[in-house]
Amino acid sequence: MDAHNSQPEDTAELRQLYADFERTHIKPLWTQIGNLMPRHPMPQAVPYLWKWSELYPMAKRSGDLVPVGRGGERRALGLANPGLGGNAYISPTLWCAIQYLGPRETAPEHRHSQNAFRFVVEGEGVWTVVNGDPVRMSRGDFLLTPGWHFHGHHNDTDQPMAWIDGLDIPFSYQNDVGFFEFGSDRVTDYATPQYSRGERLWCHPGLRPLSGLQNTVSSPIGAYRWEHTDNALTQQLLLEEEGVPATVGPGHAAIRYINPTTGGDVMPTIRAEFHRLREGTKTPLRRDVGSTVFQVFEGRGNVVMGDKTYRVEKGDIFVIPSWVAWSLEAETMFDLFRFSDAPIIERLNFNRSWVEGQDGNEGKNG
Ligand SMILES: [Fe+2]
Repeated sequence: MDAHNSQPEDTAELRQLYADFERTHIKPLWTQIGNLMPRHPMPQAVPYLWKWSELYPMAKRSGDLVPVGRGGERRALGLANPGLGGNAYISPTLWCAIQYLGPRETAPEHRHSQNAFRFVVEGEGVWTVVNGDPVRMSRGDFLLTPGWHFHGHHNDTDQPMAWIDGLDIPFSYQNDVGFFEFGSDRVTDYATPQYSRGERLWCHPGLRPLSGLQNTVSSPIGAYRWEHTDNALTQQLLLEEEGVPATVGPGHAAIRYINPTTGGDVMPTIRAEFHRLREGTKTPLRRDVGSTVFQVFEGRGNVVMGDKTYRVEKGDIFVIPSWVAWSLEAETMFDLFRFSDAPIIERLNFNRSWVEGQDGNEGKNG
């Protein structure tokens, strides 16, 4: 073997060895180490942008042509990252789809190990029934369906409604952790209350019911209402104007949705946040381990991903794969919903970040 490039001499014996490797399903590390252990993450997923102006009309056409019901279960259009070989994976861990429910339609109940959420960029009139608790879905609301909770949706109006679903389907699929069960073909409760039972029990600022002192893996809150999110962000920017530390960066208000029993993420595999940038605000360029997805809720701006800049507006969805450098720039007041696989990455201690202009980056893992 050549000591300088570690490449073996091509001999009959070597060829026989490689043939025996193949016959016995063995792969030598020395021919693949560059791909298996790169110097930094080299994602197969690519940065990508889906325009709401294309997504919504296609969801509507699907609504006209494809019934929703048992078997197909959901009229959901999964966003398939072009780097991930044709699977409807937006990243190696995350699924993101636009789901469409026509007037008076019901999507039947089922449950699965995969954790799910909904985020509503426009519309109203659908209730999602989670473990028997009807939860109103309205613009700006963030709604949870943690793993193994029964859920179905019904549209109580004569208008269609669309929203986005986020799940950990790719992670579950790759790791063979998923179970699935059918529930009721209709939803179990067609009531249309303003607030779900979970909200009535849990959604009082700073107050925990003594009947709920046991911590739960996922949040007991089924709906995080826009009025609270909006007010939290508004107050951060007002406090900043008053000179009080409140924002995550100049002109950049942000909140994380949390599980009130732990203060941690809403579900074991998915983190969700909402960001608001003042007009003209630009966030520092950064890289993070793990993948993240944004949907523009309101306003216009640019996102830099890798060596490209994309102009984005209301409803647009973009994915930032692991370790791709990114930043946001607000052309108007700029509101964005965000979700990521950070709880998985952090629990396994793979988290690492680099931020432009900061010292001591990348240090965590040496
Ligand atoms: Fe589901």
